Amino acid sequence: MATEQNGFVRVAGTDEVVDGKPKAVKVEGRSIALFRHNGSIHATDNQCPHMGYPLTRGRVRNGVLTCDWHGWSYDLGGGGCFTGGCDDLETFPVEERNGDVYVSVGDGGSKRSDAHFLLLKEGLYSTDQWTISKAVAIMLARGVSEGDTLNLIIRHGGRHIATERGANDGGGEVADFVNGIKVARQYETDDRIIPLTFAAHGLSGRAGDRPSIQRLPDPVTWEKLEGWIRVFSKDKKWEGIEKCLITARRMGGHDQEILPLLFECAMAPHFLGNSNNLLNIGYIAEVLEEFGWDEAEELVCNLSAKILGQERGLPDEIRQSAIDQFIADTATLDALADGQADGSTVAFDEDAFAEGLVSGEIGPTFGAVTQALTDGVSIDRIVTTMVVLAADRMARTPVNMNPGWGGLVREMMMASAVRKAQRFAGSRVAAQALYHVAWQFYGDRWLNITHRPLSESRGSLQPGSADESEAIESVLSSIEKIQIREIGRQTRDYLRSGYSGDALLRGLGLVILKDDNGRNILSTLRTIFDEWTLCADHPSRNQLLVGLARWATDSRRATGSQSAAATALRFAKGQTAVDLYES
Ligand code: FES
Repeated sequence: MATEQNGFVRVAGTDEVVDGKPKAVKVEGRSIALFRHNGSIHATDNQCPHMGYPLTRGRVRNGVLTCDWHGWSYDLGGGGCFTGGCDDLETFPVEERNGDVYVSVGDGGSKRSDAHFLLLKEGLYSTDQWTISKAVAIMLARGVSEGDTLNLIIRHGGRHIATERGANDGGGEVADFVNGIKVARQYETDDRIIPLTFAAHGLSGRAGDRPSIQRLPDPVTWEKLEGWIRVFSKDKKWEGIEKCLITARRMGGHDQEILPLLFECAMAPHFLGNSNNLLNIGYIAEVLEEFGWDEAEELVCNLSAKILGQERGLPDEIRQSAIDQFIADTATLDALADGQADGSTVAFDEDAFAEGLVSGEIGPTFGAVTQALTDGVSIDRIVTTMVVLAADRMARTPVNMNPGWGGLVREMMMASAVRKAQRFAGSRVAAQALYHVAWQFYGDRWLNITHRPLSESRGSLQPGSADESEAIESVLSSIEKIQIREIGRQTRDYLRSGYSGDALLRGLGLVILKDDNGRNILSTLRTIFDEWTLCADHPSRNQLLVGLARWATDSRRATGSQSAAATALRFAKGQTAVDLYES
């Protein structure tokens, strides 16, 4: 039994620690490695800072301790790491008294108070998910300000995209970043590790140097700049757009006008079929809203320019005729003034609208949107219908052939993004965005999903399991077991039992995040978190959860993220992973 004196705990007899034979001892549940080297005894954390392998299985030469797994090396005396940038090894004071070895674990093992920042920087440059995961776990455990951490990531991401990403790249990275943050905010501390790791990993990658972009010399006006941005977007010249945006920033006084212009250009008819535009400009708007121009200028200006000035091929005949119809409908849209009445009292035949949208013919598809807008139905109501329609299709798409998940989730995410277009750019641009969503529904016409009315509730309340946790467990268990044929019915049974669905949504989210496919589902998960609240009054809202559960089940493959997060948690809490190897 260990005895304690002045913070030092007896851990062994001196004759038990022999040169060349490291010894593991336990202090306060933690595995400590003892080494005798050049006559002195040294104590270190027994868990290798890299991935937790027992260092007692390593070897010491000239005061350098080398782990036997991946070969990382540490200064045995001071703990400094020679291999990783900042993954220093915790070392502890040792005293030899009267034939016994005493160790003081205390709180003196940690070498750097800013280790999490150094680790995060290292992870951001290397893209190593494990390093990022460790940094995030340590930050959460230490209660480090999330704002400081995210600012570091956004600055790195801006430089990474500006110097390493081509003209048609970068949107997906920002999607992971924004959606990771939003999903993380749905959870408490430990459950936030995976989405925050996705967020940081999204913007990771090499980041080079480049000269700062100089503003255009005077005389330049905002009116000229916005005209030039429109021209460069049509001409696919992203460098010109970036120059104009930077000039607008340096001139000052026009920050509020930039985002609406970006949305307007991204929703131009010639971008019909480019479904990423609406999503990515929406994410950029959220970055700006959260971080402000000072932190996010490089990312916003560079990535927006690349989105608006991207290469695009000539439209085929079908798309060209849809573009023509889109342009013809502009007259209708022009009558739609920003700040129109909310439209909530206008009669809206939702089922006729939905039927037109999925008719499989471009005339009725666009016609449904045009009619609703002309009738004065609010954009918010139209979006809710589109979101629920997409969810209903996810809840019913047959899985015995290609279920079309990619297109279906895009229908939902794009529809949801129209709310951002309206918030940041107004009703006129949001109305235009609706045609882009409608085109996505039209593009998914190959899906064999029969249409049915949305306006009626999906089933009536039925007595189900008396225990909500039990009911949730059975749904989650079907996802784990990949029981695609059971999952829809079980989710519906849970919802028909009268439970709110909030707890199930959080549970579904965790199962999704811990799966190796989690990153692919992240954007949809975030959308469903948003829309679960925004569609609260819709009778078919439950289809959001049924659709999500079915997709998560069908796409489920492995659990690597879960084990990485669990191990990172152990690191952060100072718990040992050694037992996993030793048992
Ligand atoms: S080098 Fe020690 S666990 Fe990788």
